[in-house]
Amino acid sequence: PEPVSPTGVKTGDLGAVDSRAQSGNHLTTAQGLRLPDTDHSLKAGERGPTLLEDFHLREKITHFDHERIPERVVHARGAAAHGVFTSYGTGASITRAGFLAEKGKETEVFVRFSTVLGSKGSADTVRDTRGFATKFYTDEGNFDLVGNNMPVFFIQDGIKFPDIIHAGKPQPDREIPQAQSAHDTFWDFVSLHTEATHHVFWNMSDRGIPRSFRTMEGFGVHTFRLVNAAGESHLVKFHWKPVAGVHSLVWEEAQIAAGVDPDFHRRDLADAIEAGAFLEWDLGVQVLPDDGTETFEGIDLLDPTKFVPEELAPVQLLGRLALNRNPTNYFAETEQVAFHTGHLVPGIEVTNDPLMQARMFSYLDTQLTRLGGPNFSQLPINRPHVPVNDMLRDGMHQTAIHTGVAPYRPNSLDGGLPAVDLENGYVQTPRRIEGNAVRANPLSFEDHFTQAALFYRSLTPLEQAHIAEAFTFELGKCFEQSIKERELTVLAQVDADLCATVAAGLGLPMPTGLTEVGEVELSPALSQIVEVPGPI
Ligand code: HEM
Repeated sequence: PEPVSPTGVKTGDLGAVDSRAQSGNHLTTAQGLRLPDTDHSLKAGERGPTLLEDFHLREKITHFDHERIPERVVHARGAAAHGVFTSYGTGASITRAGFLAEKGKETEVFVRFSTVLGSKGSADTVRDTRGFATKFYTDEGNFDLVGNNMPVFFIQDGIKFPDIIHAGKPQPDREIPQAQSAHDTFWDFVSLHTEATHHVFWNMSDRGIPRSFRTMEGFGVHTFRLVNAAGESHLVKFHWKPVAGVHSLVWEEAQIAAGVDPDFHRRDLADAIEAGAFLEWDLGVQVLPDDGTETFEGIDLLDPTKFVPEELAPVQLLGRLALNRNPTNYFAETEQVAFHTGHLVPGIEVTNDPLMQARMFSYLDTQLTRLGGPNFSQLPINRPHVPVNDMLRDGMHQTAIHTGVAPYRPNSLDGGLPAVDLENGYVQTPRRIEGNAVRANPLSFEDHFTQAALFYRSLTPLEQAHIAEAFTFELGKCFEQSIKERELTVLAQVDADLCATVAAGLGLPMPTGLTEVGEVELSPALSQIVEVPGPI
């Protein structure tokens, strides 16, 4: 049977939900009063002033005045689609999550793609990281995989998220985006804050200008913990592999498209679906031992600036995603959808990655403001496709009419309900936590260059040339000479040849006086794989 929401509305059927405010053939007020005229305000005589008494005018204008909600503080520019995820049934040995474990199981999904820094009306093809956020409406509740199209992040600790975003956002005085004017704040930050280096290399690579959403990879970035029915746990990295392959624009194409068709990516998404060319990805995981060390081949799995090369841990496929239906209403669905790393289902758990830990706080917090209070999970696009009985009550924009005596447990007046589920309810697998309260990172977090070098050396000469051109172009937009020089010292620590090319392009000398100029030493396991062609 088709899943039914607590309000009795078929959950897949947004039309039915929307029809509450759009039914019948007559124009009415919000109170259902039929109207003979909506073009003339009520005036004192044909040439007279408008009367305060005109409740229809005031309702119409007031509602219009409040049509906009705050755009997302990051990832404001987005486009989305509905689809279905079909499990290959290969996940059962590593997770009890039913939507991954059961072969052939179909789960409805909603996916929102986005750029990070631009505002809602910005262009699609700018150089930026792309968001790739998926809401799985599973039989066990909603699971959100809130990822990006790059496998690593700028910062290791979420406490620095406001810093990287403030450095990258438009200038506070003129609100001119970094992409078109002074680049000083971004490059000032990342050259001082070298843990961003690996992510910056991905941004400056062709991955920063994808050709289409359907030719982007997606990554969960953090290490997650999967737990199977027997209680055994593994650490994993999530990957989305596009069936259409990975393709990028070249810089000139990206710039022209931004001017000629700022909606280049969202148009492609909608047109492809309308033409029946559904967008497809395989979801996969790299499975790593949960042996207590939280490391793999010397890579710290709690450090989100590091990836695990696929040559060391191949991606094992779990199922296929097909995006097959465009949203009916951009605002109701794409704008109001609320993703959260804390939307988890049994068998999928978080780890101590300090970036992930901060995200566990941030999403719900920001959505309280963006979506006007605590009841946005009742919006059609956010509702789970399973019954909900959460004992949460009242608050702004409450649309449920709750019954019963009072929402508390234990409760002898209300039948003791709702019942807790001791057998299948979500439990965090016990994990040992110890140590002093400190504001400090493990030593391994101090390696900022090895993996940027690994990524750079995995690329073809043409792709490497694109990186050199991108660094030269973007740094060339900085006004401050000292910032360019400082970033050159960063590049020198990743690859001396790249640094020399960029320095020549900027008309600057190679940096001197560094303790560590030149090529980074890779560990034996990592140095073996740089000769292997990369994933592109
Ligand atoms: C939004 C990904 C780090 C705070 C988003 C979205 C994505 C995303 C895909 C857009 C969701 C949508 O389409 O609605 C990531 C990834 C991260 C990361 C992959 C790191 C690996 C962080 C951190 C914070 C943060 C560290 C804060 C501590 C936010 C906020 C939003 C957002 C506030 C707006 C959410 C909303 O208004 O609904 N992020 N993010 N993110 N992210 Fe992150």
